[in-house]
Amino acid sequence: MKKEFSVCPTTIDEKELYGFVWQEFVTAIPSPLVLVTTYKDNGKTNATMQSWTTFVSENGFYCIFASVHKKQHMYETIKQNKHLVINFPSVDIYKKCLDTIKNNGHDEDEIELSGLTAEKASMVNAPRIKECFLNLECEYVWEKEITPGDQHVVMCVKVVNVCMDEEHYQINKKGRYGETGYLYNIHSPRNPETGKEEDTYVGIIQKYATYDEL
Ligand SMILES: Cc1cc2nc3c(=O)[nH]c(=O)nc-3n(C[C@H](O)[C@H](O)[C@H](O)COP(=O)(O)O)c2cc1C
Repeated sequence: MKKEFSVCPTTIDEKELYGFVWQEFVTAIPSPLVLVTTYKDNGKTNATMQSWTTFVSENGFYCIFASVHKKQHMYETIKQNKHLVINFPSVDIYKKCLDTIKNNGHDEDEIELSGLTAEKASMVNAPRIKECFLNLECEYVWEKEITPGDQHVVMCVKVVNVCMDEEHYQINKKGRYGETGYLYNIHSPRNPETGKEEDTYVGIIQKYATYDEL
């Protein structure tokens, strides 16, 4: 039976949602996990985990970051340089990607300190992460607040170069999906009736059926 929720269920305390809204946890819609890299004004590398993100194609291939905090170094460095790389980790290096959150000082080289390797991008002035199987080199296009005065912006960037490990575009090798492929953020799903909260999980995706097989 379907149930409807238009206001915050009484089982959920809106003051304890860490800046999110209750629908985030009731729906818990997964989104891809990426690590965005840029150069700071002192030439050191910056790395920022992002997940509220999607990709679209029309007159080019674009990434729409749905929620970039304006106080983050990612925002500041992209506004300065207009260049960034979106790096896709697989699960074997995911903990190192999370470590970039601890290694967040202005004078720190965040990629190196987190046990990852920075390499020069081909088309933009931003570092790529060698261990990530896919790197999208991008240029800033525009940003917009969803509601006036928001702390976050929706940001659009254009992909100008794709760098992909060949083993990940060959399905008989590592491929793009499963345990060696793209990661998804499963953000603390909640049962709206009991308020019961699950942990946040790293998800992977499995191919299920072709459209003809359904
Ligand atoms: C799994 C995960 C996903 C995240 N996604 C986002 C996001 O989409 N938008 C955002 O503003 N912060 C997001 N964050 C928080 C930033 O990664 C975090 O605040 C980071 O320290 C900012 O780094 P910076 O100041 O170097 O940019 C995420 C964190 C994690 C762990």
